[in-house]
Amino acid sequence: MKILLLGKNGQVGWELQRALAPLGELVACDFDSPGAMRADFSQPESLAPLVRAVRPDVIVNSAAHTAVDKAESEPDFARALNATGPAVLAREAAALGALLVHYSTDYVFDGSGTLPRDENAPTAPLSVYGRTKLEAEQLIAASGCRHVILRTSWVYAARGGNFARTMLRLAAERDQLKVIDDQIGAPTGADLLADVSAHAIRAVQARPELGGLYHCVAGGETSWHGYARFVIEWARANGQAIQVAPEAVLPLPTSQYPTPAARPLNSRLSTHKLQQAFGLVPPPWQAGVERMLTEVLGR
Ligand SMILES: NC(=O)c1ccc[n+]([C@@H]2O[C@H](COP(=O)([O-])OP(=O)(O)OC[C@H]3O[C@@H](n4cnc5c(N)ncnc54)[C@H](OP(=O)(O)O)[C@@H]3O)[C@@H](O)[C@H]2O)c1
Repeated sequence: MKILLLGKNGQVGWELQRALAPLGELVACDFDSPGAMRADFSQPESLAPLVRAVRPDVIVNSAAHTAVDKAESEPDFARALNATGPAVLAREAAALGALLVHYSTDYVFDGSGTLPRDENAPTAPLSVYGRTKLEAEQLIAASGCRHVILRTSWVYAARGGNFARTMLRLAAERDQLKVIDDQIGAPTGADLLADVSAHAIRAVQARPELGGLYHCVAGGETSWHGYARFVIEWARANGQAIQVAPEAVLPLPTSQYPTPAARPLNSRLSTHKLQQAFGLVPPPWQAGVERMLTEVLGR
């Protein structure tokens, strides 16, 4: 099996390089790849010759414009990366008979209510990021290519910056922290997403009827405040220098933390369909976060 991975340097792309390697021949590209291997989503049509040159059996696209607030002020750029580029990949995948694996987001929903949403729940994005990611889902489905789209949320990785690292830095410096407590979701590891992707590729190559849209997040739920408390308590218990007292990590409502892009309050996603189709059980979010912290803190 020949796999073309786009966005190899991102959080998920880095883990995909590891998880996809045993499946066959892996050709991994990004914006900074040399020559003909350069995958520049700001020039969506430039992706077509790349796909035609590689002629993959599977295209995995983890490239995206993920700067949610910045996307509000550069919607055309966000649309090129998040929707037009993936549509070119879908068209080329359809022409080749290749499988396209793509990633989407809980931001396609408006976040109303308190129940987990399934894949058929009505979409109503609140932001440019959410709208462009939804457009990609629709364009991929309309292209007729075989595809797997994994909608996920609150992605973190050991490599690069992330929310947990920011909380650890602030917790070492400050006496008090205020963290949003009315957005609820599941922190999901890039490693988990990459491993699920590899399983899904093998399953869909054997049983094409399994293709489609899936929610893929870690088990359980928390708020950003709960996530921060967990990270800080874990670090304290594991000998890190933490200045802030547990009771000084205070809850903050979203209404008191205005951002250019509105975020959904309810980011709960049901993974029932994923579990049934692929026989996989997403582990509790705490397990992946503890593993990431162990790696980040070198313990
Ligand atoms: N992060 C989250 O919390 C989250 C939540 C839900 C869904 N998702 C989705 O999950 C997928 C993976 O996200 P991630 O967290 O791994 O994102 P990420 O770390 O921001 O990585 C995005 C990748 O896109 C590449 N990229 C940026 N501009 C590009 C361009 N003009 N042309 C080509 N590539 C470009 C980046 O390359 P450089 O590193 O070279 O800039 C990077 O490799 C995305 O589809 C995202 O929408 C993410």
